[in-house]
Amino acid sequence: MRDDLKIAVVGATGVVGREVLAALYARDIPAERVRAFGSERSQGLEVEYGEDTLEVERATPEAFRGVGLALLATPAEASRVLAPAAQAAGAWVVDASSAFRSDGNVPMVLPGFNLEALGPQFSFKGRVVALPGVVSASVIHILEPLRRAFGVVRAQVTALMSVSGAGVRGVAELEKQTADLLSGREPEAQAFPHRVGFNLVPQVGGFMVNSPWTEEEGAWTLEAARLFAARGEVPVIAGTAVQVPTFHGHGLTVNVQLKTPGPVEQVRAALKTSPSLKVLDAPGERIYPMPMLIVSDPAIQVGRVRAFPQAPEWVTLFAAVDNAGRAAQHLVEAGLKLAERTS
Ligand SMILES: NC(=O)c1ccc[n+]([C@@H]2O[C@H](COP(=O)([O-])OP(=O)(O)OC[C@H]3O[C@@H](n4cnc5c(N)ncnc54)[C@H](OP(=O)(O)O)[C@@H]3O)[C@@H](O)[C@H]2O)c1
Repeated sequence: MRDDLKIAVVGATGVVGREVLAALYARDIPAERVRAFGSERSQGLEVEYGEDTLEVERATPEAFRGVGLALLATPAEASRVLAPAAQAAGAWVVDASSAFRSDGNVPMVLPGFNLEALGPQFSFKGRVVALPGVVSASVIHILEPLRRAFGVVRAQVTALMSVSGAGVRGVAELEKQTADLLSGREPEAQAFPHRVGFNLVPQVGGFMVNSPWTEEEGAWTLEAARLFAARGEVPVIAGTAVQVPTFHGHGLTVNVQLKTPGPVEQVRAALKTSPSLKVLDAPGERIYPMPMLIVSDPAIQVGRVRAFPQAPEWVTLFAAVDNAGRAAQHLVEAGLKLAERTS
C-alpha cells in the first residue's frame, strides 16, 4: 500500500462509520491520511479519530478527488450514487450496504472467508466490492468449518437483531421508546414497523416484492449462494429475522443440518479451527455467547452446541456478533487488501 494513500470514510457519523474510524486508528493509519464524509446534514461536524478529530466533509462526486480508497458505510441509496462517483475519481471502493450485493458484476468478499479474491493477482470488472450483511457473514463463518468437516445441507436461523442494525436512528428510537414507556407515555414507532421497546418484531426491513420473506431474510440465501459458489457446495441459509429491544450485538440461533453427522465434541472441535469464531461453551458454568459480551470482540462467539440423539444430523448452537464492529472490520480488511493493488 502506498504511504500517501488517502482513505475516505463515508458515513463517518453513523454507527458503522464511527467503528471504521476506530478500526483505522487501531491500525496506526495517521489522521492525515483519513477523510471523514457524511451528507449535507453533518457537514462541518467533528468526529473522533483517536486523540484527533476530523471535520466531516459533504460527500459529493467531486469530493473524491485524490482519494485512493473509499469505505462506504452509507445507506444503499447513497452508496448507489457515491460508489460510481468514487470509482470514477480513481478510488477503490468497498460498500457495506445492500446496494451491490445482488449485482453479479460486483465481486462479493467476506474477510476471513475469501479475502484472497481481492489480491493483486486477480482482475475483476470495476473498482467496487460488496460485503455481505452481518447475519449472512456470521452464519457463513459458522458453516464453513462444519462444511469442511461434515458437509452442510442447510442452516435454519433465527436472527435476534439489535436496533443498532438500523443505524443511529434505530438506537435513538429504542432510547426514546424505553424512556417513554417507563414514564407512562405511549411511544411512537418511526424507524421500525411497530414499537420495539419491550417488544419483539418479526420483521427487519421491508418485504421482498410478492414474497412472504423480508429482504433481510432473502439476502441470507442469496449471499450464501454467491460466497459458497466457489467452494462447489452451497448450503441454504433460511429463517426469521426478529427486531429485538437491545442496542448492540445480534444473537443468532443456528440449526445446522450436516451431511454426515458427527459427535458434538467433533462439531465443537471443528468450530474451534476457525480464526473468525470464538467457542464459549461451558453451560454448567453459565458461559455462552451473549450480546452483552460481544461489543468490541472482533470474533463471532458460538456456544450452546448440542444435538438430539434422535436427529444427530441437526446441530443447534447460539452465536453472538458485534454487528457494527464486525461490519467495520470487514470494510477495513477488504479496503486494506484492495489498497495492496496501489503499491
Ligand atoms: N448498523 C449495522 O449493524 C450494519 C451492519 C452491516 C451493514 N450495515 C450497512 O452499513 C450502512 C451504514 O449503516 P449504519 O448503521 O452505520 O447507518 P447510520 O448510523 O444511519 O449512518 C449512516 C451514515 O451515512 C451517512 N449518509 C446518509 N446519507 C448520505 C448521503 N447521501 N451522502 C453521504 N453520507 C450519507 C450519514 O450521514 P449524516 O450524519 O450526514 O446523515 C451517516 O454517517 C448501511 O447501508 C447499513 O445497511 C450496517
